[in-house]
Amino acid sequence: MCGIVGYVGREQAAPILLDGLSKLEYRGYDSAGMAVYDGQHINIQKTMGRLKVLSELTHDGATMPGCVGIGHTRWATHGEPSDVNAHPHYNEDQSIAVVHNGIIENYGDLKTKLEARGYHFLSATDTEVIAHLLDYYYKKCQYNALASISKVVSRVEGSYALGIIFVDQPEYVYSVRKDSPLIVGHGQGGNLIASDVPAVLKYTRDVYFIENDEVAMLSQDNIQFYNLDGEILEKESKHIDWDIHAAEKGGYEHFMLKEIYEQPKTVRDTITPRVSNGEIVIEELGMTDEEIRALKKIHIVACGSAYHTGVTSKYVFEGMARIPVEVDLASEFRYRNPILEEGTLVIVISQSGETADSLAALRLAKSRGVKTLGIVNVVGSSIAREADKVMYTWAGPEISVATTKAYSCQLVAQYLLAMKFAHVRRQITDTELASYLVDLEKLPNQIERLLSNKEKIQKFANRYSGAENVFFIGRGIDYAISLEGSLKLKEISYIHSEAYAAGELKHGTISLIEEGTLVVAVVTQEELYAKTISNIVEVRSRGAVVFSVTNDNNQAMESNADYITYIPRTNKYFTNSLAIIPLQLFGYYVSVCRGLDVDKPRNLAKSVTVE
Ligand code: M6R
Repeated sequence: MCGIVGYVGREQAAPILLDGLSKLEYRGYDSAGMAVYDGQHINIQKTMGRLKVLSELTHDGATMPGCVGIGHTRWATHGEPSDVNAHPHYNEDQSIAVVHNGIIENYGDLKTKLEARGYHFLSATDTEVIAHLLDYYYKKCQYNALASISKVVSRVEGSYALGIIFVDQPEYVYSVRKDSPLIVGHGQGGNLIASDVPAVLKYTRDVYFIENDEVAMLSQDNIQFYNLDGEILEKESKHIDWDIHAAEKGGYEHFMLKEIYEQPKTVRDTITPRVSNGEIVIEELGMTDEEIRALKKIHIVACGSAYHTGVTSKYVFEGMARIPVEVDLASEFRYRNPILEEGTLVIVISQSGETADSLAALRLAKSRGVKTLGIVNVVGSSIAREADKVMYTWAGPEISVATTKAYSCQLVAQYLLAMKFAHVRRQITDTELASYLVDLEKLPNQIERLLSNKEKIQKFANRYSGAENVFFIGRGIDYAISLEGSLKLKEISYIHSEAYAAGELKHGTISLIEEGTLVVAVVTQEELYAKTISNIVEVRSRGAVVFSVTNDNNQAMESNADYITYIPRTNKYFTNSLAIIPLQLFGYYVSVCRGLDVDKPRNLAKSVTVE
């Protein structure tokens, strides 16, 4: 989704804006632009396409002199990707410039009213109404920027993080947010706003996380925060202790490959602090043993890959801890009036902590008075701040749009919770817990082993990179793995792919199987081997080529698949953590082979901050 950056300070703004925007590229975008005050006017340059086009257009920012500016990468919502729809947007006389991340839901209404007052619109965006509305209220409020921003905010419905500059207040950048991420960086000799921390890390590690309806006013040497009544707010900055290099490629061809290879470490980092002397200690959960025993139900709510980890966890929580679990897509949960009774725990899972639907689902759960827990990667993000409790996954910054390491960390965070709940509820004995822990702590090394064996997958990916349709099948946890394997392939290779519960194929989808169709069969659940193999036989007899991911020494597969990749043996609940590795590599190498933009696939955004 869109990224915003703003700078005011001693340096030239444009190169800093370009650099900041480059750190937000991972969010996904189709056009980019900047507005810089040159001492007399606000100049805007904006263009379709990648940031390098904007860099070329402005000679790396050199043609836009000035020390105050705002920048934007746009992921089109209202209006096609085009130069004119790219941000920033001006008001009528070009004395105000605005960048926006989010969606103004009542923009149609506002536009009609503004047009009736004589305002002209150049673009098809919802954002342009903000520029004109600001113009209207700025004049009405006797050129008081804070008052006019409050007025605008009171009129718009939807989500926004805004960066604003005024030609007659050239020493300030203003910003305000509601439901779209926004941070302020406190630098030396200059201050910044941005949609995410990596954009400011080169200049500062001291960052303020802005809450809904807070307005930030930045000048070269000062940052002031206000509420919408214009009262000053005291806020504390947070020191970011992760390194800028964590957000760089470090010699890998793509972020996705780097992140795949980081998994042994990040999975270990997520497990280790929560295991002590043979016990699972999740202090941040803040639940007593009595409260854990009193749990009647768990709802897991998330989107995309995070949702897929929830599908796995349903099997793990129910199998291990015998607690009923419902798993929902956040976009469904929020509108289905779910029954949330006393004794329910709602777990919201999100890498970014900013996914609009997941955040709305969390708020719904909170409004119904049930306990909420966020499993979140980005420290200080909205879901992390708003959930009653937060359990962080220690994946570090994930840049590639296709999640890998955050997914793996979300899985192990949920295994830890399930083991804790199972033990406290006496569904597993001390001995069983000890044995699960041994298996859990082996996972990082086992992932490493799988990664050291990538050539076979690479060759297979080269061979099938021209496939048009791919089907992923499995039963139980293997079905959950299939969901993620299929998403990994389709999102970055643009090959049509579907995941099916293996037993469900014959109820319709098997009609799509023809000579040469690739079927990826995930077969890690021993008690289901025979059942899944019978489905494999069905598709092979219709011409499918079967690639199976299965456990080491599963001889039953040898005569039933055309290609096999083996994963090390582990507890039946943890197989997803291993089986997903070859499937991530498969998706990655197919995308590379097809010459696609692996880290920034078309139409996708890393952080989906609009619904
Ligand atoms: O930031 P979140 O974990 O809330 O994002 C949810 C999905 O958008 C995300 O998992 C998406 O499906 C992945 N980027 C796909 O690889």
